[in-house]
Amino acid sequence: MKTRRILTIVLLVGVLVSMTLSGCAKKQPVTIKIGGVGPVTGEAATYGKSTQNGFEMLVAEVNAKGGVLGKQIETTFGDDKGDPTEAANVYQKLISQDKVVAIVGTVMSKCTLAGAPICQSSGIPMISPTSTNEKVTAVGDYIFRACFIDPFQGTVGANFAYNNLNARKAGVLFDNGNDYNKGLAEYFQKQFLALGGTITAFEAHPTGIIDFTPQLTKILAGKPDVIYCSDYYNDDGLMAKQARGLGFTGPFVGGDGWDSPDLFAIGGDAVNNSYFTNHFSKDDQRPEVQAFVKNYTAKYGEAPDALAALAYDATGVLLQAIQNAGSTDGAKIRDAMKNIEYQGVSGIIKFDANRNPIKSAVLIKIENGKQVYAATVNP
Ligand code: PHE
Repeated sequence: MKTRRILTIVLLVGVLVSMTLSGCAKKQPVTIKIGGVGPVTGEAATYGKSTQNGFEMLVAEVNAKGGVLGKQIETTFGDDKGDPTEAANVYQKLISQDKVVAIVGTVMSKCTLAGAPICQSSGIPMISPTSTNEKVTAVGDYIFRACFIDPFQGTVGANFAYNNLNARKAGVLFDNGNDYNKGLAEYFQKQFLALGGTITAFEAHPTGIIDFTPQLTKILAGKPDVIYCSDYYNDDGLMAKQARGLGFTGPFVGGDGWDSPDLFAIGGDAVNNSYFTNHFSKDDQRPEVQAFVKNYTAKYGEAPDALAALAYDATGVLLQAIQNAGSTDGAKIRDAMKNIEYQGVSGIIKFDANRNPIKSAVLIKIENGKQVYAATVNP
């Protein structure tokens, strides 16, 4: 009899304790939810895949070390398909349905520009790993990025063409319907002219075309020493192929949009003798870079590109900010981001007053179908 009563009491206490615990669990989430966004399908799918890899790899490493604020990080990664309308939907869903506390994303400036106002008005901090268009962080004080911006990138490209390749005449070809492509082309032009060079043709093309011969024919009529292509890799590969077909043997110069393992598949031999500005080189001999390259390659079966490296760093900055803030409150994370100094694989990330980091660019040469590190240019 006595034992039964004790047993009942023990059971009751057990039930009470577990009820209290589950009650607590409901009020206090056991994980911290963050979102990621990238174009996993569509015109630049390698960008999205690399971004997702870098994002998930950093989270896995942090979780293995015990997480942030004693909690594991839970992730949802959305595919914006390289389309601004899709991007807006993905951001909206991450915030209102998945209830993420912050977002890493997205890649293409035109898509980030669609997502940023949603984060800003919801008070959800976001950091784009790779969107270089100037306007992105101007959306508001919740918007950060982990990369340099196009006024710098375009200037570095022009300096390199003029000083290192000794080019005096340049033709420029870009997608008119894309903020990043157009902005970068303009910054290249501005600096090339300032150096004393001549722009033989400044050719815009509509989004989505695959035959660039009309524009290239005009460009080649001016006998340029270099052609600057500021598009994404799928267009750049085709442009290179078509320009070689029309007899151009000189170098192409481009921006970070050239970075893709698929560039060679699209452009073939035509992309040899090209140079582009980028954020990261896997050949960087710093031990932390080599460790990252080794671990990433072991996990995903290929070396990381700049997209993977910057997603890895952007995610690291965000989680470090949550840790520093001691909270998942949007305004507190934002304030912690403003004061952060983070040593990433792509360099030190520390924000200026416009929430842009000041970082070096690397120049990559394409030689025998391979990316070869050519130079580092400091701001
Ligand atoms: N900078 C590009 C943009 O803003 C995106 C990009 C970054 C693409 C890095 C390739 C490599 O749209």
